Amino acid sequence: MKKMGLTVAVSIALLPALAVAQPPAEKKPSIEVRNYPGNTASTERDEALKLKGNVKAGQAAYQEYCEACHLPTGGGNPDGSIPQLAGQHSTVVIKQLADIRSGLRYNPTMYPFARKLANPQALANVAAYIQTLCIPVGSGKYAGPDAAEMLAGGKLLYEKQCSQCHQPNGEGAKDQFYPVLAGQHYGYLLRQMTDIRDGKRANAHPEMVQVAKNYNYDQLLAISAYQASLTTPKSMLMTPGSMCKTGAGKKL
Ligand code: HEC
Ligand code: HEC
Repeated sequence: MKKMGLTVAVSIALLPALAVAQPPAEKKPSIEVRNYPGNTASTERDEALKLKGNVKAGQAAYQEYCEACHLPTGGGNPDGSIPQLAGQHSTVVIKQLADIRSGLRYNPTMYPFARKLANPQALANVAAYIQTLCIPVGSGKYAGPDAAEMLAGGKLLYEKQCSQCHQPNGEGAKDQFYPVLAGQHYGYLLRQMTDIRDGKRANAHPEMVQVAKNYNYDQLLAISAYQASLTTPKSMLMTPGSMCKTGAGKKL
């Protein structure tokens, strides 16, 4: 009985944002958007983006500086404390690393390790390697008793306000710096969505901040639950953002 009440309240709560929030304008190149805080003079990012990454050198750096937290598979921690990185677009990884190194994206836990990468070539290398990893299955999902309701509500919001950039299956867009969301942990997504809404992730896309600003906690939960349920299609198995066929995060 109690659960029913909550469920109904949540469904209703999900609706106003659909009516109030304007759907974001046509797909725009993220990084060139005027006043995009991530669009600071990051020569490091721009240089790294021009370089061809060396996957072998990237693997060595990853093993030395990254895998203790992000794991050899790139899968991170399903509790959401450490994000899943495998299959992420190299452009996104380069941008996030440059933003973390410059302090634009506040990440004190990882900062000292991100600083170990010697130069833009090292950023390009590790990003090239990460992009080759297939997404381990078995990522953290929302498992509350109202999961079905939340997923349905989150799907509505996602398809209305997010999928034009992140794509219906969550594979993002490499050239536009739109991250792969498929296979990402629910807990991490909820934290990022909350930080983005509250202005704590300084490098977020302004259109996304605009949309998220209208969300209450239940809506953030619903949309995070839905994002975490996305899987890239089989047709993408050999491209970045693909899911591992078998082995649940054991095999690269
Ligand atoms: C001490 C643990 C730790 C180490 C070592 C570490 N990271 Fe991280 N990393 C994190 C945490 C925690 C976050 C998420 C922080 C947050 O919630 O914003 C993160 C976030 C990231 C992100 C952003 C992911 C996204 O989806 O936006 C990237 C990219 C990344 N790490 C790459 C690396 C690379 C490459 C290395 C090695 C050079 C590395 N990390 C080493 C803990 C670590
Ligand atoms: C205009 C394009 C656009 C729209 C619309 C958009 N996003 Fe994003 N999103 C981005 C970009 C670009 C980034 C990377 C920002 C950065 O550089 O840190 C991002 C990052 C994210 C991240 C962080 C991913 C990570 O790996 O750390 C999440 C989660 C996210 N978006 C979810 C959403 C949701 C949910 C919506 C809909 C409510 C949405 N986005 C709408 C472009 C968009």
